[in-house]
Amino acid sequence: MMISNEVYYIGVSDSNIRTFDIIMKTANGTTYNAYLIKTTDGVIILDTVKEEFSEAFFEKIEAICSYDEIKYIVMHHLEPDHSGALPMLVKKAPQAKIFISPMATSMLKSITKIDNMEFETVWTNKLLKLGDKTLKFLSTPNLHWPETMSSYLLEDKILFSGDVFGSHYYDNRIFDDLVGDFDYAFKYYYDHIMRPFKGDVLNALRLYDKLEIETIAPLHGPIMRLHTQKYLSLYKEWSQKSLKRNGKKVVSIFYVTSYKNTQEMAQKIYEGVEKHSDTLIANIYDLTALDEHNMLNILEESTGIIIGTPTINGDAPKPVWELLSCMMLLEKRGKFGASFGSFGWSGEAPEMIQQRMKSLNFRVPLLALKVKLIPTQDELELCYNFGNEFGEIVNGKMIEMTL
Ligand code: FEO
Repeated sequence: MMISNEVYYIGVSDSNIRTFDIIMKTANGTTYNAYLIKTTDGVIILDTVKEEFSEAFFEKIEAICSYDEIKYIVMHHLEPDHSGALPMLVKKAPQAKIFISPMATSMLKSITKIDNMEFETVWTNKLLKLGDKTLKFLSTPNLHWPETMSSYLLEDKILFSGDVFGSHYYDNRIFDDLVGDFDYAFKYYYDHIMRPFKGDVLNALRLYDKLEIETIAPLHGPIMRLHTQKYLSLYKEWSQKSLKRNGKKVVSIFYVTSYKNTQEMAQKIYEGVEKHSDTLIANIYDLTALDEHNMLNILEESTGIIIGTPTINGDAPKPVWELLSCMMLLEKRGKFGASFGSFGWSGEAPEMIQQRMKSLNFRVPLLALKVKLIPTQDELELCYNFGNEFGEIVNGKMIEMTL
């Protein structure tokens, strides 16, 4: 199928897939998009497909050109859902030179298991001219792997965005103006794939802003040609969400409690943070009453995250771990963490949480605060001071990160 003047869609559909990459639900299946540009001097292939769909992919190529016409292969992303058919393509078109980002160099051989490929690394503003077509490369790393890049076809004003602007949404009508309503899939994809890299999304958008884009051709889901600006704007809006609410930084205190002792500590810590209510907004949440969607939104806007947990059978209870597992879907830069909890016997859970926060690259400036069973008035005073000091640190107080 031609999507523009001698630019062809050669992607494949995976209509029956219902879970993608372990964590994503795909109610409408998905597609592995790839493109072919037929120039007056040869053919450029843009990306391939998941290996098990190779046959359909090669049938599409063969319907348009012969393998000896293929001069170049551009790989925007080497994840196997896009590079699965690459080794076979290289064997069928050994003369074709491959273009990748510099970061992809170390992966290319591992993915293809081929030693003698001709490849070249490219970055922003490098051009690939072939016949009557010109492709401009754009470095868009971390979207969502370190080696990802995009490209722009000057003559046709098409942005080949990689996974950016993708949707796990199969509809054989392909274009945004023809397929069903895929807005939910577009947002779901952003939330699960791009949201942890919001800063990198904004960097990519700065490059895209300089282009006159008429069509966005991503690696999954519909090609956008009618509402192009809408999708660019949505990515900007979602990625610009700041770590402040009404100009104030947010500190969120989450707790689970068996006998209200950890809850009592949480309340005092909250009051300590609240001392800084002119610059901070403190919130307190019982984790057992939060669902994942709310956890994600609260974590995303919080600069400070304080977690209270009892120790049960030498561990923190499941809701605490579930909270921290949400960080996989969020940007971690710039967050402060702390932990506390009441315990009866061994009491190691707050330290376990603290270690997990450190491994997530949180800054963890305070020792975990622990109280044996029911907090005394003195211990509640310590909790208040703990919250107060954490608030000071989130506000910018210099600290020695010795922990
Ligand atoms: Fe669609 Fe990151 O692979």
